Amino acid sequence: MLARQSGLLGVVALTLAAPLHSETGRDAWLRYAPLQGASLRQYREAVPAVVASFGNAPLVESARQEVLRGVQGMLGRTLRVEAGAPTESAIVLGTLGAVRQAFPQAALNGDLEPDAFWLRTLQAAGKRHVVVTAINDRGVLYGAFALLRKIALGEPIANLNEKQTPYAPVRWVNQWDNLDGSIERGYGGRSIFWEGLHAREDLTRVGEFGRLLASLGINACDISNVNANPRLLAPDFLPEVARIAAAFRPWGVRVALSVDLGGPKTIGGLDTFDPLDARVVEWWKSTADRLYAAIPDLAGLVLKADSEGRVGPSAYGRTHADAANVAARALKPHGGLFFYRGFVYNNHMDWRDLKNDRARAACDNFKDLDGKFDDNVVVQIKNGPIDFQVREPASPLFGALEKTNQAIELQVAQEYMGQARHTVFLAPMWKETLDFDMRAAAVATPVKALVAGKIFQRPGGFVGVTNVGLDENWLGNHLSQANLYAFGRLAWDPDLSAPRIEEEWARLTFGDDPEVLRAVNGIQLGSWRTYENYTGPLGLQTLTDITGNHFGVNVEASERNGWGQWHRADGQGVGMDRTVATGTGFLGQYRPAVTAMYESPATCPDDLLLFLHHVPYTYALHSGKTVIQSIYDSHYQGADAAAAYVRQWKSLQGAIDEQRYREVLAQLEYQAGQAVVWRDAVTNWFFHASGIADAQGRVGNYAGRFEAESMTLDGYAVRVVTPAEDASGGKAIACAAAKCTATLRYAGAPGWYALRVQYFDQNNGASHFAVRVGGQLIDQWTAAGHVPSARIDSSSSARRVIQGVALRPGDEIRIEGSPDGGEPAALDYLEIASEID
Ligand code: GCU
Repeated sequence: MLARQSGLLGVVALTLAAPLHSETGRDAWLRYAPLQGASLRQYREAVPAVVASFGNAPLVESARQEVLRGVQGMLGRTLRVEAGAPTESAIVLGTLGAVRQAFPQAALNGDLEPDAFWLRTLQAAGKRHVVVTAINDRGVLYGAFALLRKIALGEPIANLNEKQTPYAPVRWVNQWDNLDGSIERGYGGRSIFWEGLHAREDLTRVGEFGRLLASLGINACDISNVNANPRLLAPDFLPEVARIAAAFRPWGVRVALSVDLGGPKTIGGLDTFDPLDARVVEWWKSTADRLYAAIPDLAGLVLKADSEGRVGPSAYGRTHADAANVAARALKPHGGLFFYRGFVYNNHMDWRDLKNDRARAACDNFKDLDGKFDDNVVVQIKNGPIDFQVREPASPLFGALEKTNQAIELQVAQEYMGQARHTVFLAPMWKETLDFDMRAAAVATPVKALVAGKIFQRPGGFVGVTNVGLDENWLGNHLSQANLYAFGRLAWDPDLSAPRIEEEWARLTFGDDPEVLRAVNGIQLGSWRTYENYTGPLGLQTLTDITGNHFGVNVEASERNGWGQWHRADGQGVGMDRTVATGTGFLGQYRPAVTAMYESPATCPDDLLLFLHHVPYTYALHSGKTVIQSIYDSHYQGADAAAAYVRQWKSLQGAIDEQRYREVLAQLEYQAGQAVVWRDAVTNWFFHASGIADAQGRVGNYAGRFEAESMTLDGYAVRVVTPAEDASGGKAIACAAAKCTATLRYAGAPGWYALRVQYFDQNNGASHFAVRVGGQLIDQWTAAGHVPSARIDSSSSARRVIQGVALRPGDEIRIEGSPDGGEPAALDYLEIASEID
């Protein structure tokens, strides 16, 4: 990797005029792109010619390599490498002890915490040194990354005296990777760790991921799905885990594993996994000892129990604390942490009982156990009480635990957020939760301070579910990398603002062209609101296929089942009544000041209204709009904003390297099409449910749209689509022959038009489509996408836009579809729109 990069940079250094070579996104924000002009001159002046490091600790060696690589990339210069005290001005890397010894006169006084770093310009014997120091090697590595980031961002480094301390000790990521190489809710390709029930032969990407994580200060990674495979802990499997740990180690990232509470039975040969059984206690102890013999720096274990089919302590009438402590005690002598996930709920709840509420589950399960968990247990709590929805209030559990370590679990992988096919920058959402005051004490008690242990002195921190994969750009979408970056930056310093983090990321990722930054910043910072607008506004949650792929639209999928993601929309109104007065009582789980704010619709923010209250469609929001009109308006705003992203991105052609330009454009165009699918599906559903028309007359009226089922069909047959909102008019056409056609005679005014063909691109075939106007072929394409659907529905619904088509009255527009595999070349509609798209 390093060799590849240096070779590349050598070429770039010689040809500064051609900076827009294709980029795959693999280096993410660590590209070290060549600086230009004044910036280049300034840093060539400020950066000394030598990098000197003390000792040969692997992490300090990584820091040195990184500084070499960064300076080479950005300044086109190769630093001279020295060991120990430098003989001339230098970048100096080393732990505080070593640096103090080398520069006794420099009075480097004061304390540092583990992983914190100190960047300090130092004058000694007529030389000027840029010192990067810390009390541990990991801190030195973090400091090196911080110094390079300053250079890349154009921040001054001439007179440094900056100490940075991580906000919390727990800064972990979880990967939901399965040993067969698949990733649960992963959208960036196959596992970087596993394939065919073994650790991958080639673990290059693990090292590269470690580098990305280290650049953000992340210090541990769970390499296995929380829906754990017990085999991970089997004695003969440990060497495989050890290999992965070795690949991460140079970056200070320690490995953690997910465990199954049933392990004593499934792999231990016992007839029980009762956490209070002496044999089970012994099994956890010997298992931990064995683990640490193979991986001495193992960070810890993660457990999902009594949730979504996982076994748990309830099998023996034991508590979550009993289950957590048995494993935690086994880890304790080795310094390991045990994470017990707060995501415990019953997925077989009776939906007819209006008092039932999944949102209550975390508090109901854990509040009374406060103080019963050992001090190396961390309760890992999802940001909201349900499950990574587009908007949720902060989980009340954050404010309910005073004697228990806790960590917030944030999902970088965009499971309910468009699965990397939609751009959704999550930092603004995370910030709302992190900054939310739970009113848990007399002082301010934002979630970030609670999880970091700053209020009740129970240190925990931040866990991100990342799910990167082997795809060159890690997450399946270049713009989604900003979520990984933001998670790491917030875990290090949750006081950073979302715009600041985004701006950093955009500069590091795309450079400092103001036009590029304006467009990228605009898209990213508005993207969460945009996605919320066209999926589930007002606290409706993501109105997706809850029991299926969590991707396409299915407004009713959340209802009439035990999963508890109910929004309870009916003919009169919508929303879950979670009040104390008349609802499920969920709101009573907050501290009184928070309860009071949410309990009354008068003070409840509109954004969460339907999450917390059931109201009639005609209920007036704070904005003055009715709920129903707001649902309509939001969806149109969201779809319009997504369309505008395409135009904004197109304005950057030539200012961004071709590969990333093209790939992001394709993603944004897809998103814009899907936003229309969502818009139409949700607004039509609510129109039918409420019987209340859109005051602006848009819902149900689509100028220029011709339903496929109304065209002249040859071979195509009409199909009723379920749910009905997933296709325009509730119907589509599908082809059962080798080739079918749908034809329309154009009767409008002559002119230039864009044709929008709405078709279905399932993942079980690659149908071919061709469009002819007056017999002339004007476009053809193959539907070979991999969306998570093998049927005609909103997930497979796709759009092809054909620009610049001249139409004359009487022209025949003919769409030909040739099915492939299980995919019937299905069509939804054709839209004839003005050329400006
Ligand atoms: C979600 C997700 C599951 C995952 C679960 C968890 O429900 O859909 O795939 O296992 O969260 O966090 O445990």
